[in-house]
This record gives sequence, C-alpha cells and structure tokens, in this order.
Amino acid sequence: MAVKIVVGGQWGDEGKGKIVDYLSQDMDLIVRYQGGDNAGHTVVNEHGEFKLHLIPCGIFYPDCHVLAGTGMVVNPDEFLKEIEEVESKGVDTSRLHISGKATILMPYHVALDNVFENAKGSIGSTKRGIAYAYADRARRIALRMEDLLDLDYARQRLQLIIPTVNKELVAFGAGEVTVDEIFDKCKVWAEKLGKRIVEPVSYIHKALEQNKNILFEGQLGAMKDLDLGIYPYVTSSNPVAAYACASAGMPISKVDNIVGVIKAFSSAVGGGPFPTEMGSDEADAFRGTGEHVDDEFGARTGRARRLGWLDLPIVRYGAQVNGYTELAICKIDKLDNVRQLKVCVGYKLNGKIIDYMPTTKDLDKVEPIYETMEGWTCDTTKIRRLEDLPANAKKYIKKIEDYCGVKVGYVGVGPDRDSIAK
Ligand code: GDP
Ligand code: IMO
Ligand code: MG
Repeated sequence: MAVKIVVGGQWGDEGKGKIVDYLSQDMDLIVRYQGGDNAGHTVVNEHGEFKLHLIPCGIFYPDCHVLAGTGMVVNPDEFLKEIEEVESKGVDTSRLHISGKATILMPYHVALDNVFENAKGSIGSTKRGIAYAYADRARRIALRMEDLLDLDYARQRLQLIIPTVNKELVAFGAGEVTVDEIFDKCKVWAEKLGKRIVEPVSYIHKALEQNKNILFEGQLGAMKDLDLGIYPYVTSSNPVAAYACASAGMPISKVDNIVGVIKAFSSAVGGGPFPTEMGSDEADAFRGTGEHVDDEFGARTGRARRLGWLDLPIVRYGAQVNGYTELAICKIDKLDNVRQLKVCVGYKLNGKIIDYMPTTKDLDKVEPIYETMEGWTCDTTKIRRLEDLPANAKKYIKKIEDYCGVKVGYVGVGPDRDSIAK
C-alpha cells in the first residue's frame, strides 16, 4: 500500500493534471481533496484532451476508483456536465463517487462571486462561486451532498437558509432566489447523483484497510493557499498537502509520499504580487497563441496567464510548507529554445537580503536576485530518461534540487501522458 499526495508548488497550473493522470496507473483510488470547478487540470491521453474541473484525473483507468472528496465545493450542474463530456469520449464513470460531506456550490454562490468580481477591489477569481460556497460552509448555512439523500431535510434546510441568502443577493444587486427553485434543482441532483454519494470516511478507511494505493489530488498551489499564500489574492481552501488528511479524515501518519508539482518557469492567473513576472512582450512570446493545448491560457477561464522566470524562493517555500518527498517539474520542453535562463535565487527587501516569505504587501516590493544559466537549445520532447537530458537541463534541475533539498523524480517534456522523463 502507498498513500501519495500530489500538490501544486507555485501559483496553480503547474501540470498536476498530467502528473496525476500519469501516476494513476499504479493507483486504486484517487481523491480530489479541495477546491471546486475553479480548477482546470489538463490531461492528454489515448482518450483525447480534457480539462477536468471536478472529476479526479484518475478517471481514465478502468480499475481506478475516484472520489470528489469532502474538502471540495461541488457545483452539481457542472459535475453533471463534466460526467457527460467524459462519457461522450468513451470513458466509463461508474467508479466515480462524491463525498456526502462535500459542500454543494449553489447557483447563488456563482451570482455573488460575479457581483463581487465586477466591483472595485476584486481579486480576479474564476467567478465560479468558490469563496461564497466556502463562506457558507464556514458559517454553517451550506447544504452538503448527503442532504440530497433526504429531500425533506434538504427542504427544511433551504427554508432556513434562503431568507438570509436573499438579503445578501438583494444588498449586492443580484436577483433573489426561491426555496422552490433551489429545491427543484436539489431533486434533479438527487436523482442524477444520488447513487454516487458515499460516506467518505469509511470509504477511504476501507481502502486503507485493504492496502490499496491511494493518491490525493490537490487543486491550485501553495501561493494561493488561504492561510499560507498571498492573502487576499488566494482561493478559499487549503491546497497544501496536510489538508488532504484533514479532508479525508485520515491520520497524517498514513502518508508515504508527497509529490510537489512545479512548472519549469512561473505562471499565475488573477491578481497579486508576482516578483519574477516578465514584461508583456517577453511573456507574449512565451505564451503561444492558444491553439495548442499547452499554450499559457487558463484551463478554466481562458485568461492569458501572467508569466515569469523560475522563482526559487517560491519553490522552496512550497517545499517547506508541503514537505515534498520528490518533485515533478513540468514543461522543461518549453524552455528548449531559450538561450539564457534567468533564475531568481533570492529576494532583497529594502536593500537587504531576506530568508523568509514576506507579507503580501512586501512581496510586491521585493527585488528578485537573478542568476543567469545557459539554456540547452535542443529538443527534449523525445527524452524518457532523466540521465538522457542535455547537460544544461540537468544543471537547471540540479539547481532546483539543491535550492529546495528535494530530488526531482519526474520531468515533463510534453503535454501528453507519456511525455515524461524519469
Ligand atoms: P494543473 O492545473 O496543475 O493541472 O495545470 P493546467 O492543466 O492548468 O496547466 C498545465 C498546462 O501545461 C496544460 O496546458 C498542460 O497540457 C501543459 N503541460 C503539463 N505538463 C507539460 C509538459 O511537461 N510539457 C508541456 N509542453 N506541457 C505540459
Ligand atoms: P488549478 O487547480 C490557477 C486563482 C484565481 C484567483 C484566485 C481565487 O487548475 O491549478 P477562486 O475562483 O478560487 O476564488 O480564485 O485563485 N485560481 C487559479 N489559478 N489555477 C487554478 O486551479 C486556480 N483556481 C483559482 O485566478 O486569482
Ligand atoms: Mg489548471
């Protein structure tokens, strides 16, 4: 048995989808442990190209069970849409389950997110209602998936909750909802999703007792963690590895392996500080046009990603807060044609070198200290063994390993499942 957590190490979109799809070949169960359909996890395999938002990326293996876990906020309409999409490409979804304790993300959460995002002071959310669903969970006025299994109870809960929700909707200029309208949706969701809802703690513990291989799939990355990231430009859940255990009801002692996924450079979507951000001309040259699956546009919103050089203090911070046992570096091939690579090896704040992650406000002010490394200027996309990588790519990877104190186990050299050197 092995319990593995796959977690994003930067600002999200590091390539978690690809790595989870690859590692799932040895797994019996994949559990997405937080977030909602703000995620866009790209998978390219023999079934086609997918951008998964709610369904865990292990769905493509016929023997692999997958669970949308307790820490998630699930928009049932989006979930149903995604099931349909995946099934339309011939993928069997009978092994897909949802934690009864996962929070239901309601249409009014999406409405509130949109109103706030269009107002002054927005942080550039994905407008999927994530913050508002998590807020309702925290103030105990959310419905959970298990409530769909007892519709009388669900209706009683809605009768209590909807008057409060409506006060907010009206105050912020969004349209009111009725109990009947939301309850009608609950009936449809119960009918279509009821059979997939499970009691999650016993479900996961059974897999542990049966010595199954379990992989926990994180959403987003360390810098967007609600507590440890660049607050307030963060998401409303905890992507960090430790949260996989809290969300699963699994003792932390069960974890064997934590794979940190990073990109060979930096990218971010939404607002907030980004010390190594490139100028727009440089970024445009890097980004691609959007016609290829691996061009730098958000897999959820289609927004052009902000791009920057590799930021080692950020990668090390991710290693610190997550406790990686190994690293996966994606998109090394995207640097194949860059002659000189800038790498940030430290920050200066008010003229002094600092050895900690500063506050969000100060991170905006830091001066990155760069080293320049020679590129490898050759094609890496056919390489499948780490020892076959060009010498300068090995130096780049060694620099990351030495800086973070974590070995690199996988290097992504293309978007599809098999484009991995290890
Ligand atoms: P996630 O949110 O962490 O799953 O990452 P996204 O799917 O949002 O973004 C990662 C992007 O990089 C997607 O377009 C992937 O197809 C692409 N990708 C992942 N790994 C590699 C790689 O090693 N090489 C290339 N060229 N593209 C990759
Ligand atoms: P994956 O899992 C990149 C960003 C948004 C915004 C902030 C909060 O594919 O890596 P939210 O909608 O969560 O309230 O937005 O977080 N964001 C992401 N950025 N990848 C994601 O997911 C993201 N999910 C949210 O752009 O800055
Ligand atoms: Mg993504």
